[in-house]
Amino acid sequence: MMILVTGGAGYIGSHTCIALLEAGHTVIVADNLCNSKVETIDKIKQITNREIIFYHIDVTDQTAVDTIFLNHSIDGIIHFAALKAVGESVEEPLNYYCNNIVGTLILAKACEKFGVKRFVFSSSATVYGENEVPFVETMKLQPTTNPYGETKAMSERILTDIAKVNQEFSVSILRYFNPVGAHESGLIGEVPNGIPSNLMPYVTQVAKGKIKHLRVFGDDYSTLDGTGIRDYIHVMDLAEGHVAALNKLKAGVHVYNLGTGEGTSVLELIKAFEKANGVEIPFEIVDRRQGDIAECYADVSKAKQELNWTVKRGLVEMCRDAWRFEKNYRASDMLIKH
Ligand code: NAD
Ligand code: UD1
Repeated sequence: MMILVTGGAGYIGSHTCIALLEAGHTVIVADNLCNSKVETIDKIKQITNREIIFYHIDVTDQTAVDTIFLNHSIDGIIHFAALKAVGESVEEPLNYYCNNIVGTLILAKACEKFGVKRFVFSSSATVYGENEVPFVETMKLQPTTNPYGETKAMSERILTDIAKVNQEFSVSILRYFNPVGAHESGLIGEVPNGIPSNLMPYVTQVAKGKIKHLRVFGDDYSTLDGTGIRDYIHVMDLAEGHVAALNKLKAGVHVYNLGTGEGTSVLELIKAFEKANGVEIPFEIVDRRQGDIAECYADVSKAKQELNWTVKRGLVEMCRDAWRFEKNYRASDMLIKH
């Protein structure tokens, strides 16, 4: 199939492009490069030895989006393009609502206009809010505490309403848990903007000596060791989940959790990283981070059954591949203080 991948130069999008190309699909990337680099497109070509068509456009620009549909016979869309920094979304709500909601609307309109029936959407476990673990797709969603989370919940509702009246529209909503790691080549991975706010990129920068130590946000949760539990998933497993979702698309809206189904605490992740890579991660326990929940992990039975998809990589691969990419990546090695 010819697949339009919005946000395909970004972290999850770039890994998904590899999985799509390896599965024999043709890939067109649309990205405004607001949080990525065009060099990533070359890296994808290098890894797969396949061509990619790249459009440097903003998905909120209807004319630019229409041009892609006029130029190519698109079979389906995987829509990753969005702003994703939770803290920033609280500071800049208008930017987040405009970018993330308008992007989804413009793409859905293009689907209607050009008769494209397949749509895969990047959602997040954040839509579950504070619910009982494991999170199941049928749960009543709790209000999210930030505009970023709201844009995901709203986009889910928009796509659901469209599918109600357009009987042929096939939508797969994928709720990601915590994607980590990198392609095993070490050529592409996650490049956070400034000081990372997520755990794994922070850990790799501590390992590299760019940051002196990790701050563990709270050890007084009612979890096994008191630290937060999350469902970390290797980004290539997540990428392969998109190919599975695309292959199994059917009319209507279908929601799938993409995670491992296993919870890992912050201290367990630190230990796993140290063991997998033979490096030490100095850390100190500090106060809880505002807005954090104690536990978040997925019930993945629906994705296993309906998509015939399951993860192939464990914590060792996540830690090893994240560290390989960090070592390879030639960013400024400035010491960051906090
Ligand atoms: P990312 O920032 O690395 O990738 C997003 C890409 O979209 C970037 O290349 C950016 O330049 C592009 N983009 C943003 N707005 C655009 C616009 N208006 N027009 C064109 N391009 C635009 O983020 P990611 O981690 O790869 O996340 C991909 C998707 O998955 C996002 O929708 C994100 O909300 C969602 N998600 C991510 C995580 C995570 O932990 N990384 C978790 C759950 C959901
Ligand atoms: C974050 C996002 C969430 C998004 C999810 C997956 C926030 C507030 N939430 O959540 O919207 O869906 O990523 O991308 O950003 N931790 C530390 N020290 C650190 C960093 C994190 O102890 O320096 C802990 C956290 O308290 C948490 C765990 O590590 O227990 C994971 O944190 P993080 O990687 O930020 O992911 P989420 O909290 O799940």
